[in-house]
Amino acid sequence: MIGVFDFGSGGLTVMRAFESVLPDEQFVYLGDHGNAPYGNDAVDDIHDLTQAAITRLFKYGCSLVIIACNTAVATSLQRLQQTWLPEVYPDRKVIGVVAPVAEQIAKATCDDPVQSVAVFATQHTVQSNIFALQISHRRPAIKVYQQACQGLALLIEQSAPEDVVRNEIRNHINALLNAAPHVPDVCILGCTHYPIVEHLWRSELPDSMRLISQSNAAAESLVEYLKSNPRFSSARAGGNTFLTTGDVETVSQRASLFYGARVAFSSIDV
Ligand code: DGL
Repeated sequence: MIGVFDFGSGGLTVMRAFESVLPDEQFVYLGDHGNAPYGNDAVDDIHDLTQAAITRLFKYGCSLVIIACNTAVATSLQRLQQTWLPEVYPDRKVIGVVAPVAEQIAKATCDDPVQSVAVFATQHTVQSNIFALQISHRRPAIKVYQQACQGLALLIEQSAPEDVVRNEIRNHINALLNAAPHVPDVCILGCTHYPIVEHLWRSELPDSMRLISQSNAAAESLVEYLKSNPRFSSARAGGNTFLTTGDVETVSQRASLFYGARVAFSSIDV
């Protein structure tokens, strides 16, 4: 089984992309709604909560976990991969959603070169500089402009009124465009909650800016990863599973709104 983890329901945008390219794979989604939002937590607390959630997915039977949350990747992934995993779970793997999109941007063809990138993400993700580091590591010439969107993930998670969310998005876009010397070529929504309202981003962004789908990049990358690491692949037996540490009814109701289909969460019992 393959685990997919986010603090809330934003990672469902990644889960959907996984399900569409890997329909025969067995996925288990865990939303740590009971402890969300992590937004104002200290980095060490986010790390500990992320490690605890991954441990639960391992105990549930997953051997590979994808962190479908940029904030958790930015604050915790490297530490987990370098120290905790080799010591405690040497046979399991944890990967994230930032490297695949950086890889995709770096691979842009000569006909369609990317010179500058706009990244909208949470405060922790922007502070970590992870997108700029991952992109410049592959293509040092690409300029990365970042904008922290404090509180936006929570507004989306709580299904705030569309005009409130649109206004926030517009302000963040204007802030980034005012600080950048020109309109960047492409845009990454660097928080898995933001594509839930992709239509609002698209209508507020300059027409010339291409939106890169992080979830599609993550899905393509997972397909390749499973080809090279077939031991993490498992034949699907029944539907995928959606687990939460939060209130099952509330989480299922809200998540169904942006999952595009009814999604029934259950409480995690490990
Ligand atoms: N969806 C998470 C991300 O990709 C953020 C969730 C949160 O801040 O609670 O960064």
